[in-house]
Amino acid sequence: MAQDGQRLDVVIPGVEASSYPITIGHGTLSGVWGEILQTWPKHNPFVVTDSELVKAGHLQTLVGAEKVPTFTIDPAGEVSKHIQTVVAIVERMEKECLGRDSIIVALGGGTVGDIAGFAAAIFKRGVPVIQIPTTTVAQADSSVGGKTGVDSSVSKNAFGAFWQPAAVYIDVATLTTLDDRQYRAGLIESVKHAAIMDAEYFGFFETNIDAILNKDMAVLEQIAATNCRIKADVVQQDPTEKNMRRILNYGHTIGHAVESASGFELLHGESVAIGMIAAGKLEKALGLADDDRLERITNLLVKLGMPIRIPADITKEKIIDLLRTDKKAVGKWPRFVLLESLGAALCRDGQWAHEVSQDMVERCLDELY
Ligand SMILES: NC(=O)c1ccc[n+]([C@@H]2O[C@H](COP(=O)([O-])OP(=O)(O)OC[C@H]3O[C@@H](n4cnc5c(N)ncnc54)[C@H](O)[C@@H]3O)[C@@H](O)[C@H]2O)c1
Ligand SMILES: [Zn+2]
Repeated sequence: MAQDGQRLDVVIPGVEASSYPITIGHGTLSGVWGEILQTWPKHNPFVVTDSELVKAGHLQTLVGAEKVPTFTIDPAGEVSKHIQTVVAIVERMEKECLGRDSIIVALGGGTVGDIAGFAAAIFKRGVPVIQIPTTTVAQADSSVGGKTGVDSSVSKNAFGAFWQPAAVYIDVATLTTLDDRQYRAGLIESVKHAAIMDAEYFGFFETNIDAILNKDMAVLEQIAATNCRIKADVVQQDPTEKNMRRILNYGHTIGHAVESASGFELLHGESVAIGMIAAGKLEKALGLADDDRLERITNLLVKLGMPIRIPADITKEKIIDLLRTDKKAVGKWPRFVLLESLGAALCRDGQWAHEVSQDMVERCLDELY
């Protein structure tokens, strides 16, 4: 990957049409449309966005006065992340007489990106998708890496495809209209990147926490660029999640269980914050952590307004039950991503996820109430 100012180029090995640029700036959204038309002159664009993005004025900023065929997901958010929305999108594209020369432009958070990316993967056996992420989750995580998909009535992300974007345009100024709780919770994916891959980046977070909470544009650009570099590094080494990419699951095993046990009352990032503390407790119990990493991680999460204890109404038994059905569980019990040190995930015998007994997990969970 080459880094040139605020532009990164990602190359995914072994994946067809596998190179794409990520452009990062602030106040850049109004210039993106012109760039798309210039870069893909033979393609017909089709925009997928959601009702909140339209309300916040971002669709207008993107397309200006131009009349562009657009599908607006309504209601916005996870409730619409199902296969019927994808069907509605591709059928609308057919009715607009769009063909294999179309290009989907996804403007929104992770739900829009996941839905639009999946629609692009299946429309006429696959058309390119451009991702324009507008949340802290999407700018740090979902827009880079090529995972797309929707939920079934049984489970999250049940149907999907790996479909790498043709380009990613990040305008951090779009974050100014994002709800504050969503904004802060979405930053936990960035803290996770720092914890597993980059100690210096973790220090940057600690030093700049006030600027981050105040949405300082220069700091947010730097965060976006560092996230993309880290995520792209991991994805380039393991594009289809066979091995190393599993480190991105740090804090997520217990995090997912807590999120689900809360009936999704807790946001994903809030649940992962609890999961990261749990991972830190496991590291201590396993004798892996003779440093102050857990204290530093906890302090940063508290400053970001994250919960660091499991809500009393979520029982340990419920969490254990959910861990047994974790989709990555081997023999009904999952493995856990742990840290070797702050900024480095633990790799042993080529494995990035580790066996921890149920007994030890239970004891660590007890400490989190
Ligand atoms: N593909 C991946 O690798 C990957 C990674 C992480 C998460 N995800 C998926 O992403 C989804 C969550 O994404 P999310 O957290 O971005 O949530 P989201 O897309 O649902 O957005 C949250 C809310 O904020 C609104 N919104 C978005 N941007 C806004 C802005 N700039 N101003 C005002 N409102 C705005 C949305 O309309 C929505 O109501 C989940 O479905 C998750 O599974 C995918
Ligand atoms: Zn996550």
